[in-house]
Amino acid sequence: MYKNIVLIGLMGSGKTATGKLIAQKTSMNFVDSDELIVEKAGKSINKIFQEDGESCFREIEAEVIKNAAQKSGCVISTGGGAVLRLENLRNLKETGILFYLEAPAEVLWQRIRECSSRPLLNKDNPVEILQNLINVRKSFYETADFTIHTENTPVEEVAEQVLDAYNKYWP
Ligand code: S3P
Repeated sequence: MYKNIVLIGLMGSGKTATGKLIAQKTSMNFVDSDELIVEKAGKSINKIFQEDGESCFREIEAEVIKNAAQKSGCVISTGGGAVLRLENLRNLKETGILFYLEAPAEVLWQRIRECSSRPLLNKDNPVEILQNLINVRKSFYETADFTIHTENTPVEEVAEQVLDAYNKYWP
């Protein structure tokens, strides 16, 4: 059974772009927890937050992550807040190797500023919010097997670094 490659990190850390590229370069399937949530709820992430609240979003997130973690040989891109539930981390670690894609708040914001699909950042001070999220979540992200610094690294190289580490860990 091949272990999953699990990408964790904040919004804008490049989990989806890196995950898709890794899946392209390998025969692994790509799974995105946010996409599965939208499919399951039948509405956008913004709508789920607005109409049902963040706690409902987190419930669905835990469910889709549990299912995704039961697969093997997949690249799993997780939503930035997935690490907040220990249950999610436990499920993901059971069948996967975890990679924390790290970058400073200002860099994260520059990457995602054009996109309005992240309800937590639809406010006046997104960089400050991202910095607070880093402060709160850092210790959870750092439980990953590997940390990849992405600030000055193109996505192709991030994908290579992930695959190198994965192949060493799981030859
Ligand atoms: C969130 C990150 C988002 C999405 C939701 C909440 C978070 O995913 O799950 O908006 O709490 O950090 P991405 O990290 O893929 O943007």
